[in-house]
Amino acid sequence: MKTAMTMAKTRSPSPNGQSDVQSYDIHQTYDWNYEHAPQVPPVLDIPPCPGPWTFCGYKVNSPLGIPAGPLLNSRWILYYAALGFDVLTYKTVRSGYRACYDLPNLLPVEDAALNEEGRTLEAAPDAARYHSWAISFGMPSRSPEEWSADIARARNGMHEGQVLTVSVVASPKPGWSLQDLANDFATCATRAATAGAHVIEANLSCPNVCTQEADLYLSPEAARVVAATVRAAVPHLPLALKVGLFPNRRIMEEIVEAVSPHATAICATNSITAKVSHHGNLLFDGLRRGIGGSATTARCLEETVLLRRVLNAAGSPLELVSVGGVTTAQDVRDRLHAGATHVQIATAAMIDPLTAIRIRQEGLS
Ligand SMILES: Cc1cc2nc3c(=O)[nH]c(=O)nc-3n(C[C@H](O)[C@H](O)[C@H](O)COP(=O)(O)O)c2cc1C
Repeated sequence: MKTAMTMAKTRSPSPNGQSDVQSYDIHQTYDWNYEHAPQVPPVLDIPPCPGPWTFCGYKVNSPLGIPAGPLLNSRWILYYAALGFDVLTYKTVRSGYRACYDLPNLLPVEDAALNEEGRTLEAAPDAARYHSWAISFGMPSRSPEEWSADIARARNGMHEGQVLTVSVVASPKPGWSLQDLANDFATCATRAATAGAHVIEANLSCPNVCTQEADLYLSPEAARVVAATVRAAVPHLPLALKVGLFPNRRIMEEIVEAVSPHATAICATNSITAKVSHHGNLLFDGLRRGIGGSATTARCLEETVLLRRVLNAAGSPLELVSVGGVTTAQDVRDRLHAGATHVQIATAAMIDPLTAIRIRQEGLS
């Protein structure tokens, strides 16, 4: 498959040795990276990925996607769409402008295996090579006017067999009821649908935000009300729900039961949280941050296995999207074997934008 235009220029070589592609510059702000998105998608031969593959009812060219986060705008979407990813998720948007947290937004950390939430990891800010990082953006958003026009650009540039998902979240105000919050999700979803989203994703988990919208996936009632309200607002589009790590199987079962009538897919796991220290000092004011990358590979695979069991036991029709720590072709095979129908890659794809091409070259059988 050939894609449009000419090869993107080198600007910020990725830390792990790929100097011929553009990647997100972790030393620059979110706004800088938004403005300095790749100008044109590269033209590369994309190895085929024999299927069939589907995502939320759409036929797609591969089971490889990018979850909410790395793709700040349409130019990043179309860049990764030309690099062998077929489900592209537009970074979470809100019903109003929201600034990003201060730098660092992506802080490399040691690669110690994270098997539970709340551990402390050592920062590795000067590491020449790294595979995991702490994520600290606070879910910034451009204004609805800006993101809806930009979503339309992303949709227009996509190819057959590719799907555009838009991630949405509420921005609660003091005194809001659960229904107010769900309505704010629905407002964003309606706007994203009108702009051209193929799929809506409601973000029910943000480990780096301390307000009401952060942990909705731990409350069956909150998850149900949000899912039902968004589904009613955009009945014609599939609805995915992004969730974090479940503290135990019982809550997982309750959430699956609560949302199965209203959603199309469940996307797990957002990330695993940890405190981050450097030379004995806790960073990020001692608050936890979501960790992405290979530190989370083993635990996120376990979570996929467990979710598959719970979905099967409940007879739930929800599709299972596996995310968290996926880096290699073997990781993708493991997630598919565990019962995921689609696999998403954030950290590894930001560090090495050629990740999907490498996975396709190796093959998934
Ligand atoms: C730069 C960056 C920004 C992110 N922003 C969001 C976001 O806005 N909404 C969301 O649901 N998840 C966000 N995430 C989490 C990812 O979607 C993903 O769940 C997480 O990074 C785990 O996958 P990974 O191990 O492949 O990185 C972000 C991740 C990264 C790396």
